[in-house]
Amino acid sequence: MTRWTDDLRGDLRRLDELSLRRSIVTPETGQESHISVQGRRYTLFTSNNYLGLSTHPEVIEASIEATRTYGTSVSASRLLCGSTPLHEELEARLAALKSREACLLFSSGYLANLGLMTAFLDSDDVIFSDRLNHASIVDGGRLSAAKVVLYDHCDPDHLESLLHETPAKRRLIVSESVFSMDGDLAPVLELLELAERFGALLVLDEAHATGLLGDDGAGALSLLGISDGPIVIVGTLSKALGSIGGFVAGDQTLISLLVSRARSFIFNTALHAGAVAAALESIRLMEAEPWRRERSLSLARTLRDGIVQREFPPSKSVTQIVPLMIGDAEEALALDSRFREAGVLARAIRPPTVPEGTSRIRFNVMATHDEEDINHVLGILGPDLPGPDLLGPDLPPGLLS
Ligand SMILES: Cc1ncc(COP(=O)(O)O)c(C=O)c1O
Repeated sequence: MTRWTDDLRGDLRRLDELSLRRSIVTPETGQESHISVQGRRYTLFTSNNYLGLSTHPEVIEASIEATRTYGTSVSASRLLCGSTPLHEELEARLAALKSREACLLFSSGYLANLGLMTAFLDSDDVIFSDRLNHASIVDGGRLSAAKVVLYDHCDPDHLESLLHETPAKRRLIVSESVFSMDGDLAPVLELLELAERFGALLVLDEAHATGLLGDDGAGALSLLGISDGPIVIVGTLSKALGSIGGFVAGDQTLISLLVSRARSFIFNTALHAGAVAAALESIRLMEAEPWRRERSLSLARTLRDGIVQREFPPSKSVTQIVPLMIGDAEEALALDSRFREAGVLARAIRPPTVPEGTSRIRFNVMATHDEEDINHVLGILGPDLPGPDLLGPDLPPGLLS
């Protein structure tokens, strides 16, 4: 026991030395634009509550009512007795939203990726995965029997050459549609063209696109006017849809296979009904109130412009996710602390979440923010700075314009 503890202490020390140790932040309030942490008020820029729906009274009410009806847990997997009519209603709703034939709920987006990527691929198959895909896709690939080949981020030419040179019985091309750490958009049309040409299945993870992109908020396919093609959508309920849970939407045959083969679906207690009802109500509000996505995207544009005006490196973001690129993990952590001192919670994102040397502060802009919140951030970065003391002497060099 002591030897283990010593070993693990050594691991923690090494994380400290590399500025890679993580810590938990515990707000005392819900995910509003302003939250309280240890009694101090912060403007929140690190939540995925993009449309402000997880704290919406009608979403909360729907969740409470379903909990009254079905209890706080469904206490079994869907295949035993953990299904409710609400689960089926949400699956139908999500299939329609994503213009796919059918949908299957999972307990999280993470488990949806794991389930999909391990359900039917074998060792003759190949997963072609964007180099910057989310950890849940990486882990799905690790658990899958298939070989994984990485292509350069958003580079269809590189993908094409890999598709030419890699023999495979079946091919899966996997990409996020909006990348979680960069806020950029995948070249979906090119990926689809390659999938069709090489007989591959295109898996798009819409975790950060659902609720934000397209006139109806349905995501990247809606934005690009794509309805057909060999496409499977993975999504989460835990971001714009104000709840918790994940899903896969695709053709009926695939979904039927997942029901019998996706281990993260079969061996997992189903989502509780309160979460399902919250997502259903969120979808209704997302469709009825397009101002939410418009506001989040337009405030994000203001933030991006302001960052560039202050001579920080421009990012490729075109969405509600706005990275402030720093590079070094220690400098990113220092800036994270400076933001906190100034009353802004926007966390440093460091390896292994992002590649070595690309640490950053990531801002998630929500519909519940306003111009003043954006100006607050920009004021910390730019000439409107109240005084040099606010940022302190150890600010990473070159960050002040
Ligand atoms: C691209 C992407 N896929 C999947 C997930 C996992 O979703 P969940 O939080 O529902 O497990 C996330 C969450 O961070 C994500 O960013």
